Amino acid sequence: MHKTPPEQALDTDPAPVSRDRSLARRVALVGFGTVGRAVAKILCERGDGVLRLTHICNRNFERKKQPWVPSDVIWTEDFQTILNSGADIVIELIGGLHPAEDLVRCALTAGKSVVTANKQLIARHGPDLLQLASSNGCQLEFGASVAGGVPVLPALRTGLSGDRLHGIAGILNGTCNYILSRIESARIPFSEALEEAQARGYAEADASEDLDGGDARAKLSILALAGLHVRVSPGDIRARTVRPVDAVDFDYAAELGCTIRQISRADLKQPTLFADVGPSLVPASSPFGRVQRNLNLVLTSGEYGGDMAFLGAGAGGDPTAVAVVSDLMFVAESISAGPRPHRPLQLASPKVSCDFETPWYLRFLVKDQPGIIAHLAAILSAHQLNIDAVLQKPGFDKGALPFVITLEPCRDAQLHPALQEMSALTFALKPCLCLPILR
Ligand SMILES: NC(=O)c1ccc[n+]([C@@H]2O[C@H](COP(=O)([O-])OP(=O)(O)OC[C@H]3O[C@@H](n4cnc5c(N)ncnc54)[C@H](OP(=O)(O)O)[C@@H]3O)[C@@H](O)[C@H]2O)c1
Repeated sequence: MHKTPPEQALDTDPAPVSRDRSLARRVALVGFGTVGRAVAKILCERGDGVLRLTHICNRNFERKKQPWVPSDVIWTEDFQTILNSGADIVIELIGGLHPAEDLVRCALTAGKSVVTANKQLIARHGPDLLQLASSNGCQLEFGASVAGGVPVLPALRTGLSGDRLHGIAGILNGTCNYILSRIESARIPFSEALEEAQARGYAEADASEDLDGGDARAKLSILALAGLHVRVSPGDIRARTVRPVDAVDFDYAAELGCTIRQISRADLKQPTLFADVGPSLVPASSPFGRVQRNLNLVLTSGEYGGDMAFLGAGAGGDPTAVAVVSDLMFVAESISAGPRPHRPLQLASPKVSCDFETPWYLRFLVKDQPGIIAHLAAILSAHQLNIDAVLQKPGFDKGALPFVITLEPCRDAQLHPALQEMSALTFALKPCLCLPILR
């Protein structure tokens, strides 16, 4: 049958690129787990002559071998074999600080570029490692270390580099978002939502890093490094736990037109970086309010370009592997472009503060008795804090009564002493849950 030119074009070999394997950049993969295996699969299936997998390193690698890995790929459990190999790029996917940090330092010192998805490593040592890469004429890319498959870090480092960003906020932890959005949709207790997340593999048996904000603040410090050009240690960012949030908070939040999400935010107002991670009220109809299950969302605010949004799968082998392979492509292109001049990193080291000014949601759980509101109002008034509303839904047990006071905007530092005074009140069954209301 006679074919029109467009149909012919569709039927022809889609790869006009070189398949000469000798021209491809040699890639050594360290860590053949969830992400490493998915990266190897993409590299083995691409076969486009740009990237060639030469080594796979994993402890006790015999149990990891796969029939789809070409027979000329060398398997090893010895980092030194990788460092002594002719690999141009090392992919670090073992995770954690040790021995990942040593491996990455040695690879960069040997002039090999490194691609990693390791948020702990970049959050703690990113600036030093970037400097080391630059002074050895190679590259360090870490696009998968925040928000998995969502290309927010490459956007910050290239697509938005023409702007002057001053704010970054995100839903950066899929486990917390899964739990909070399940409590929201099914009105189940926190403990039940956590068990469900663990059963589905969205939360680890010990989910403390996720629930208490450690994971999200490490990611926020990486976003601040890449987008705001500041050096901030994760430990300097306040992290508030999501554990006390319960179904009743979603009822009260709904009365205010809001829902609850774990929000990580950083605002640069030189000489201070305001940063905080923790559960927050957000308008139900806002981009944050609409993020369900384990998705991630990052919003950036720039002086010239205004606001941008990045949404997608924050974890999972395949989405994260796409981010890793995209970094590999970028490095391979850069190597082809020739050596880069050494440029010292220009990073500010601002004072880090959590003293945002916002309206607040205070949820109390009390044994009901006369005079409770009067007691609380007296403390708030003594600290010059203005009540916006008092919410009390009917139908609760008077022995464990949840009710809410919302406050007009005030600074965190102004509210904190009032909360301490309130914690001493004998009718309070639990410490007051205090959440910022983000508009
Ligand atoms: N999974 C995700 O969705 C995701 C998303 C974003 C970023 N990341 C990051 O990606 C990296 C890898 O995560 P992953 O989920 O793939 O982890 P993983 O499934 O635990 O894989 C890690 C692999 O490295 C191997 N390994 C660990 N220590 C080693 C050592 N000292 N020497 C040799 N091999 C070693 C492990 O071997 P064994 O089999 O013996 O344990 C395992 O095969 C981490 O930095 C993680 O934070 C993951």
